[in-house]
Amino acid sequence: MQQREYALIDLRSDTLTTPSPAMREAMLHAAVGDDVYAEDPTVIALQEYAAALLEKEAALYAPSGTQSNLLALFAHCDRGDEYIVGDSAHTFRYEGGGAAILGSIPPQPIPMAMDGTLGLDTIEAAINPDDFHFARSRLICP
Ligand SMILES: Cc1ncc(COP(=O)(O)O)c(C=O)c1O
Repeated sequence: MQQREYALIDLRSDTLTTPSPAMREAMLHAAVGDDVYAEDPTVIALQEYAAALLEKEAALYAPSGTQSNLLALFAHCDRGDEYIVGDSAHTFRYEGGGAAILGSIPPQPIPMAMDGTLGLDTIEAAINPDDFHFARSRLICP
């Protein structure tokens, strides 16, 4: 049997990585502008690239993971909804309760497996009945 060699790749977090010399060089020479007025050519190019890659109408660059997760929650939920979320998910554990504080979207945490999956039966059991006594349930997976 053939022996395989594996390289160790640390995937704990993007925050452990630091920019390589090539990345610093690219930043140094990047064309920049005011993104509020859609005048940053690099942001525009990145958004167009992401939209084409994912075959979407448009893409929006968000500079942080927390901001991206909040945008996803706000896009899928209305005030008064709750979001069903893994109890180890970043949005639930590490983002300061932002969805509840900023969006009026409380979490409904359920057990999350080590690989990040949620049990379908557990999800189903967590969905609130269509009754005004309960928050409306939404399943979000950031
Ligand atoms: C899964 C996940 N979501 C969100 C974040 C938050 O990202 P940021 O620090 O850019 O807000 C992290 C940060 O490590 C993350 O690992």
